[in-house]
Amino acid sequence: MLRELVNNGVEGLLHPDAMIAYGAKNSVEKLKGSAIVPDDVYTYYDFETLKEKFPKSLCKGIRVIKQNRGSTGEGIWRVEVVDADKYKNEIPFDAMLKLTEARDNHVEEKTLQEFLEFCIKYLEGDNGMLLDMPFLERIKEGEIRVLMLRDSVVNIVHKKPAESADAFSATLFSGAKYRYDKPEQWPALVDIVKGSLRTIQSRLGNYDLPLIWTADFMLDTDE
Ligand SMILES: Nc1ncnc2c1ncn2[C@@H]1O[C@H](COP(=O)(O)OP(=O)(O)OP(=O)(O)O)[C@@H](O)[C@H]1O
Ligand SMILES: [Mg+2]
Repeated sequence: MLRELVNNGVEGLLHPDAMIAYGAKNSVEKLKGSAIVPDDVYTYYDFETLKEKFPKSLCKGIRVIKQNRGSTGEGIWRVEVVDADKYKNEIPFDAMLKLTEARDNHVEEKTLQEFLEFCIKYLEGDNGMLLDMPFLERIKEGEIRVLMLRDSVVNIVHKKPAESADAFSATLFSGAKYRYDKPEQWPALVDIVKGSLRTIQSRLGNYDLPLIWTADFMLDTDE
């Protein structure tokens, strides 16, 4: 298909900086304040900031920590404090965490201190950083992928995580089920996406919208 498009004068390949801007997890933070991301999202580029800010953000409830690179759920951790009721304004470094990775929904336990040190590898290198966002519990109802050709919505993929207890990952490898819907079946979502295109474009560096791109959504708590 790409070959056919190029033969017909449509250039499919993005500017490399646009590819980075649209693909990086900090795009979520760049879209903060708009209708399509939660307000409660943060990015950490160095260990000192991570160590100072993350224990406070963990007080607000279950969080998801995402490494910038990679895909298919690698380095995407659901972070839950064990016995969270014991703590008030800040989670102490020796508090125990239950950690679930979206790659395969496997569970590990680490203290907060151990987890922070484990995360250093995600901060290394030119594009190292972590995104911290709330865990959106309606993920169990599925993740909704909007497949776009520039400014047109062409397809909706409904990705439902496996039914097992700790499963929250919508990646194929982890056992999620995919269903392909027409845009007409998701009118409210299509409206939100279309209404956000200008914001997305300007906040992510003012490049032309990519020829082929996707945006993945999770349901918020408001029905
Ligand atoms: N805030 C969140 N709340 C609940 N579940 C989440 C959240 N963020 C991610 N997930 C789950 O983790 C999975 C992987 O996360 P995400 O899609 O951000 O990373 P990725 O698949 O590795 O990267 P990409 O989609 O950019 O290739 C999602 O499909 C979703 O099931
Ligand atoms: Mg994904």
